[in-house]
Amino acid sequence: MKTLFRNAEAVIGREVVRTNVLVEGSTIVAVDAPASATADEVVDCTGLHLLPGVVDDQVHFRDPGITHKEDLFTASCACAAGGVTSFLEMPNTIPNTVSQAALEAKLALASRKSVVNYGFFVGATETNTAELKHAHRTPGIKIFIGSSTGNLLVDEQEALERIFAETSLTICVHAEDETLLQANKARIGETSDLHDHSRIRNHEVAMIATRRAMDLAFRHKHPLHVLHVSTGDETDVLAEHRNLVTAEACVHHIFLSVDDYDRLGTLAQMNPSLKNRDDNRRIWQALKDRRLQVIATDHAPHLLSEKARPYPQSPSGVPGVQTMLPMLLNQVAAGECSLVDVVEWMCEAPARVWDMVGKGRIAVGADADLVLVDMKKVHEVRNEEQLTKCGWSVWAGRSLTGWPIATWVMGRQVYRDGRVLTDHRGAEIQYDHGRGGYWATASDFAS
Ligand code: DOR
Repeated sequence: MKTLFRNAEAVIGREVVRTNVLVEGSTIVAVDAPASATADEVVDCTGLHLLPGVVDDQVHFRDPGITHKEDLFTASCACAAGGVTSFLEMPNTIPNTVSQAALEAKLALASRKSVVNYGFFVGATETNTAELKHAHRTPGIKIFIGSSTGNLLVDEQEALERIFAETSLTICVHAEDETLLQANKARIGETSDLHDHSRIRNHEVAMIATRRAMDLAFRHKHPLHVLHVSTGDETDVLAEHRNLVTAEACVHHIFLSVDDYDRLGTLAQMNPSLKNRDDNRRIWQALKDRRLQVIATDHAPHLLSEKARPYPQSPSGVPGVQTMLPMLLNQVAAGECSLVDVVEWMCEAPARVWDMVGKGRIAVGADADLVLVDMKKVHEVRNEEQLTKCGWSVWAGRSLTGWPIATWVMGRQVYRDGRVLTDHRGAEIQYDHGRGGYWATASDFAS
């Protein structure tokens, strides 16, 4: 089966070029095909932009074990509608993904349920270093240095030293300092004030843990990816990456601050907590300077009935896979960044960090994971259009300019004009860990 994407404004490398992209089977075979190339199907892309599918490297899809909130089918449908063609999922499911067997069980589940491509992190515990050493079919290791949703936590220095010393896969961290977080909680005492969430999980809590993780990475010469950076100060420290450390911002830490608590209530409760407007501004600047390389969602669905519990019984987290691309395309439309920036943050960079094979760019030989976007489409985010099982978005009511209108995964169309086509399944993401991660391959991608 051959598909010709004709007359597209395609993001290829660091440029937007009007071209014809030819796909054969699951692979891109030409990026400058003649408009008359023979194909079984021709997609007229006139006036539209063609991007590599988005790679979201931080999601919580709750499957297995917590499927009343989400499952791999509903979450992957939301991905397809949002132009996310590949996801990497976190280990805080039930059971936790802390062994090769649990990892492979999740991969098997996804092969039956996911309409987009999938990969799963292996989670660290204080005692599973042997499993982590031999883990495969995984992008890397996740450590919760501070506690969040679920019971995964590795806070003891000895255990952290052992994991960084004895394993080789890239480690990503939830960086909030557990000791200070608990001390803040005890000091503040009983509270129902949501603003206290950001006083408990404050700037220092984030900074201490990020510095601690970077120190471990440097001493053990171990690649590290800092997830969901929430403070401006961390972005300054991350400039000292020594070609070992990469980091990510989540959409909510770019656009929301403590000033939104009164308007949004516990819908805006997440970990790391929201900080100040000045942090939003500095995080955005750090993305532009590439002190932060990746944008992700931390898609963390909780039902509205659970969110409606009074703080602190309310759970932390917001869904995001369906809205991440439109939120960033809206920034392009507003002149705040370029489409090439968006592709770098949300496609190329995560693919490089995790040594993904064939992902993150439109190039000959790459997988045909593609998203067609209409940069002129103006549409309001609506709860009733959210395909995540939790059925709400923290961005509901926002009118955004720039939307995905069609998505292909491995050459198969999975989304078109509001409808997910559910008869195909995505593929297991492949990794070439010998490639050396973001810094090793940065120069290849620049060319
Ligand atoms: O707010 C969050 N929710 N942060 C996390 O790190 C975990 C996530 C979840 O799984 O609910």
